[in-house]
Amino acid sequence: HSKPVVVETSSQPVPITGAASFSIFVKTGTSGRSAFRSAIAGKLGDSQDAKTTAEIEMCLYDENGREIGEVVKLRGAGAASGSEAPDIVSLCVQDARDIVAVKLCKRGDPGYTWFVDSVSIVRADDPNATPHTFPIFRWVSDVMFGFRTPRGRDELAATVRASAGPLHQQYLQEQSQTYILDSSDATLPPRLRAPEGYSSLPVDERFNDTKSNDYVESRNEVLRSLMLGRLLGAFKRWNSFDDYDDFFVTVDKPALIDEDWQSDATFGRARLQSAALTSLVRIGPHGNGAALPSNFAVRDEHIPGTTTVQQALDAGSLYLVDTRILDNVPLQDKRYTCCPLCLLWVDPAGDGALMPLAIQLHQRPTDDLTNPIFTPASHPADWLYAKMCVNHADLWLFQLTDHLTLTHLCTEPLIVAMHRHLPPTHPVFKLLRPHTKFQLGINALARQTLIGPGGLVEAVAPYTIEGVQTVIRRHYAGVTSWLSALAFPHAVAGRGLGDGSGAAAAGLANAGFHYLDDGSALWAALRTYVGDVVALA
Ligand SMILES: [Fe+2]
Repeated sequence: HSKPVVVETSSQPVPITGAASFSIFVKTGTSGRSAFRSAIAGKLGDSQDAKTTAEIEMCLYDENGREIGEVVKLRGAGAASGSEAPDIVSLCVQDARDIVAVKLCKRGDPGYTWFVDSVSIVRADDPNATPHTFPIFRWVSDVMFGFRTPRGRDELAATVRASAGPLHQQYLQEQSQTYILDSSDATLPPRLRAPEGYSSLPVDERFNDTKSNDYVESRNEVLRSLMLGRLLGAFKRWNSFDDYDDFFVTVDKPALIDEDWQSDATFGRARLQSAALTSLVRIGPHGNGAALPSNFAVRDEHIPGTTTVQQALDAGSLYLVDTRILDNVPLQDKRYTCCPLCLLWVDPAGDGALMPLAIQLHQRPTDDLTNPIFTPASHPADWLYAKMCVNHADLWLFQLTDHLTLTHLCTEPLIVAMHRHLPPTHPVFKLLRPHTKFQLGINALARQTLIGPGGLVEAVAPYTIEGVQTVIRRHYAGVTSWLSALAFPHAVAGRGLGDGSGAAAAGLANAGFHYLDDGSALWAALRTYVGDVVALA
């Protein structure tokens, strides 16, 4: 360790004569997020911005992990937080091109209040030269490394080799103390260890101002609209479905509601175009190979015309929504829901639209009339109500399984692994980081404020909190292969809805399956992009 030199920070560059001198710019972040942090985690301090009063030591390193020049001490670094002028110090190093990393060590001032955007190093005698930039964009709590930004394909590839270097390994060692996987409950996806929830997350996983404002704002927007709707309709009973429109005061009404939402055509289209897109399967030999469930006694008279069930199945015309995963999930007191089965078909002689044929509201058939099969020939109110029950169950099914379990919870161990095994210079880290930003934070908040006791789900869901956990456990138990479950064309083909190449199954060609069209295009673009980056690694 070289002997430290103390350099007072200054808003002006300190000129040092001689070709071997460089100025160091430390840019403190402008992201003051303490208002939100105080609300979530009061013990983190009341600082209104990202500055620190601590003493900062900065070391520069070459690619072999050797220190270059002297240790720099900055006093009160970042005091100019939020201002235009970054803090600037100067020191003498031999050749800035050799610097691959900087290390910032914060002494004192506990309470993570220094957010560093970047450190830049420029030649003092040539201020116009391209600076060497070390992006950090992290809260500096104790020790933080910043690695030089690789530029271009060649340098990116070189960083893969550098990732095995001593500094990177030291960085990962520190990360592995912070990001620890908790897999104590094998029936749930492994998660980041955070004993006290959101407030005990690694500081970089918590929201910054922009994100927390977005989060709070979008929630408030919905609440405002609901409150206004309730206020305006305070003295009114609901007499018709049209009264539902009153709730959309400041937020837009979903387009589907504006259409003829009670029609069979809209109901069928909603299986392919709504917010619940993952439950529909095509059964039979042309679909996923499944037979009609034995607990769903659809008969020939349920199929329009003279077609029999078997003929329709063999022709690949039959589609099914089965919400059985919701069966026997504990419900809250005085709340009710169903776990329906719904049969749909595309009439081979028709216009290609997906249309509902039969709905059974509960999984176990009965001999009496308590669990009948409803059809378009049923009383219109009964049929409409049956379709609404399917929509309701289908939405919860989607939210609890593919959204909450797969999208949020099952990706959490991958994010933890990313932080533990990939330094920020690694191309795959660069690829993943933007997509995983704040996800550990939102997951922790979801566990507390969404699916936790007293949370939003408990307020609006028919299921108890334990019920929600039950659904998560059931779905997770069925996730035998994450990659195939998440691979878009594979997943759609597995449901019998596509041919695996991104095209819709023949029967759905005119049904408006835009999810598949758009998803396939996005998948292809992502595949190319990801493939190119992974090829570097
Ligand atoms: Fe989400």
